[in-house]
Formats: sequence, structure tokens, C-alpha cells
Amino acid sequence: MQEKILILDFGSQTTQLIGRRVRELDTFCEIVPYNKFPKDDKSIIGVILSGSPYSVYDKEAFKIDLSEIRGKYPILGICYGAQFMSYALGGKVEPANTREYGRANLKTFDHENPLFKGFDENSQVWMSHGDTITELPAGFKVIASTDKVKNAAYQAENEKLWGVQFHPEVFHSTQGTQLLKNFVVDICGGKQDWSAASFIDTTVAELKAQLGNDRVILGLSGGVDSSVAAVLLNKAIGKNLTCIFVDHGMLRKNEFTDVLHDYECLGLNVIGVDASEKFFADLAGVTEPEKKRKIIGRDFVEVFDAEARKITDARWLAQGTIYPDRIESLNITGKVIKSHHNVGGLPEEMHLQLCEPLKWLFKDEVRRVGKQLGMPEHLIKRHPFPGPGLAVRILGDITREKVRILQDADDIFIRGLREWVDTDGVTLYDKVWQAGAILLSTVRSVGVMGDERTYENPVALRAVTSVDAMTADWAHLPYEFLGKVSNEIINKVRGVNRVCYDISSKPPATIEWE
Ligand code: XMP
Repeated sequence: MQEKILILDFGSQTTQLIGRRVRELDTFCEIVPYNKFPKDDKSIIGVILSGSPYSVYDKEAFKIDLSEIRGKYPILGICYGAQFMSYALGGKVEPANTREYGRANLKTFDHENPLFKGFDENSQVWMSHGDTITELPAGFKVIASTDKVKNAAYQAENEKLWGVQFHPEVFHSTQGTQLLKNFVVDICGGKQDWSAASFIDTTVAELKAQLGNDRVILGLSGGVDSSVAAVLLNKAIGKNLTCIFVDHGMLRKNEFTDVLHDYECLGLNVIGVDASEKFFADLAGVTEPEKKRKIIGRDFVEVFDAEARKITDARWLAQGTIYPDRIESLNITGKVIKSHHNVGGLPEEMHLQLCEPLKWLFKDEVRRVGKQLGMPEHLIKRHPFPGPGLAVRILGDITREKVRILQDADDIFIRGLREWVDTDGVTLYDKVWQAGAILLSTVRSVGVMGDERTYENPVALRAVTSVDAMTADWAHLPYEFLGKVSNEIINKVRGVNRVCYDISSKPPATIEWE
């Protein structure tokens, strides 16, 4: 049985980050809503209580019956998690005079306490709280303080129960990883046996048992998740896996042939379907972004269905769904909502069962598994790319000519990012989360080329840094790089006479323009 740390989510923005940090310690973990503790799960070795947007005194505050976990597992409460335990067990929590946000120094702490093993004299931690614990419950002892917060960390005496007011999961807590390691490994006894290699071994064995000699269909997009899912399944069931890769005509320059070639080199049984005629015909004259998306989505399902139906004995539909797509997240009203779950649109009468081999992995783990499987770097490190492709990067209606212009400009930009090695030896491509060019085909501006006056379209370049695409910052690309790319695009791409760089963050802008 794979041992795990259970993370109870009280709605904090950093809950997923706690999960990723625990996984980085080569320990499996699961995040569940605060009120869904899996009582019968025998694989739990410790419990972490997350932060929350609420104060313990709020009417709507998320509360649990601590007796379900107290004394049964080692427990670590973080921020609200610490306040809640203290409050529920008889301590006092009060609003601080001002909300404390930012770095603080853990000045005094109990050096002997196992939670602080290996800590430096002055350890920097990250605070973000409006309430503060003013009195600990009877039998609890304070084990660390900062200038402003007396009860910055506590332990219930003779119990494996700790609370910390700060956020060890946040990068700015310099020894946060050490603290989590102390909890997960030393206190909970984690064996640190969760690795890409162990995941592959276990999953391949499970897939073999689950799928037997059944035939499986998988839709490839060129993206990391579906590609890794395919290679994993191929390892488990080989030729019983049939992959379908649809070209809607709005992929990047040469992407369809390049990626198809990569897939074939990986030994995948893959059918490439060029359906671009159908997509261009159905999109003719359509300018509204959501309408474009709907048409592409519908056409995609139609094309995929037609191919899938040819595999008459298929029993399973495999997908590259990953953990963040499935974590039940809490919204502020306390309702459990599911983030979108991209179950393709195959008709029910096909009776296909769903197989999701990556459903427990975070994105960085998917990449590690891909690497361990021997997949080429350029496939594993690929930026995310929207399903509707360049259709949502061309303002206004879509024609083959506009796609050609955008593909050429985008190709210069992306190749440039791959080739430009920054001072620290990392390419700009690897430094940004996502990048691409946008054709502003509803805008024309005057330019001059040689002796000729031009009246053509501008191209916008967009590159962002992000951790999950929920928020994003514009990437601070070097001016020299932007100058070089702009020159090359204007000189080489017919139809473009101006290049702009998008310096908007998300929110309030979005990553895509449409
Ligand atoms: P936005 O533009 O909403 O994008 O900031 C966030 C992330 O989602 C991608 N995106 C899409 N992906 N179909 C997709 O499969 C879509 O219609 C779509 N729209 C945006 C976008 O590229 C970014 O990674």
C-alpha cells in the first residue's frame, strides 16, 4: 500500500502548494475537502490542516470534529489549521491589530523540538494572517515566537500535534521544506518512496491488471499530459493502445508532422488525421471567440468519434487528466466545486470506460515521469497550448492565409526563445510558462519598407510566467531579444509591419487574447 500524508483543505490558496511540497519530499499525499476525511483509509501516516480565508469566529468558518484524527495520526496545522485546533481545544484566538503579511524572523524556538531539527538561529518565515493565537489550550506549549507573534508555533505536550502560524509551504519561508521534512519523514515516519520510477512500476502493473487484453483509444494533443499518458500506456499494453492525433489546421508551424514523427519514434501506434478542411470551412466568417471555440470543440469530437468508431473492439478511452484537474476545490461559500474535468465528448453508446493513468500527478511530476520514460526533452518541456490553437490568437475571422502569417511569426518567436540562453545557462523558453504570437488582423497600420508604403497587420508577442495559469505575470524578456525577434518577424513575414510586446498581467488580462 502506498503510504500517504492526508491534507485537509480549509480553502487556502496555498493548499495545493502544500501538496506539491510534500510530493517533493518523495512522499505521496492526497488533498481532500476539510469535511471529507477518509476514515477507513489505512494508508494515512499523518495529517496536515491547511489555511483558510476564514477566521475561526466567522459564522461560515469550516470546522471539523478533531476527535476523528487527534491521537490517531501526527497532525500539523498551518495558519488557520493551527488557529482552529487551538481555538477548538480551549485556547483563545483574537483579531490582530493589523493583518500581518510578509517575512518575519523566528527568533526564539525550542531547538530540541523535532519540528525544528536542523533550523538556523534566525529562520525567516512567511506570515499571512489577520487573527492571532493569544492563549494556548491547557497542556500546549509555545515552541517558537517572532517579534510580533508570541505563539508562532506550538505543540500539545506529549502528543504528536503541532501548529504553526506561518506558511512553511511558501518559498519565502527559507527552512519551510526542512520543517515539512521534519514532520513528514521524522515525525510521521515517511519512507520517501514516491518517485517517478516507483510510480511507473506501480502504474504499469496496475494498468496491465486493469486493461488485460482490452483495446484502448487515446486522443493525443501534442501536449505533455496526453503524450506521457500515451507512453505509459504503451509500456503497459503496447499495440493494444491506439492513439488519435487530429490536425485542425491551427497548430503551430510544422507541429503536426514534427509531433507525429516524435510519437512514431516513441513506438506509439498513432493515427494522424488531417481534418483541417472541415475546420476551416466551418469557421469561415466566424469572429466571436466563444463561437470559434464551440465550433472547434464540436468538430473535434466529430472527427475523433469517426476515427474511434473504426476501432470497433475498443473498450477504454484513456485521457491525460492530472491531479489539479480533479482536486475538489472549496469556494468561499463552502460548496465543494469540481474544477473542469475534460472528459471528451464521445457518445455514450460506445460504452467506453475511462482510464486516467496520470490522475494522481502534479504537472511537474508528469514531466519527471516523462523524463524517466526516456521521452525527449522538447516534448516534456513543451509549453501549454490552447486546444483551439491559433484560432484564438487571430482576432476576427480565420483564413488559411492568416494562419500561415501567424505560424511564421510565432515560429520565429518560439525558435528565438529556445535558442536564447540567459546568463544563468537556462533558455528563455524554459524560463517562461507559455509564449506565442497573436495576429491583430482587425488592426492595420502604416509602415515603410524600402521605398514602399505598407498598410499591414501588427503582431503582438505574449510571454508569461506562471505556476498554474490561474494567475500570470508578463515575462521580462531582455530588450535585445525582443529587438532581434521583432526585426526578424518584420523582415521575413510578409503581411506584418509592426510588432508589439504585451505587458499585461493576469488578472485583469488573460493569457490568451480571445
Ligand atoms: P487564459 O487565457 O484563460 O488561459 O488566461 C489560461 C490557460 O488556458 C489555456 N486556454 C485554453 N486551453 N482550450 C484549452 O484547451 C481553450 O479554449 C483555452 N483557452 C485558454 C491558455 O493557453 C492558458 O494556458
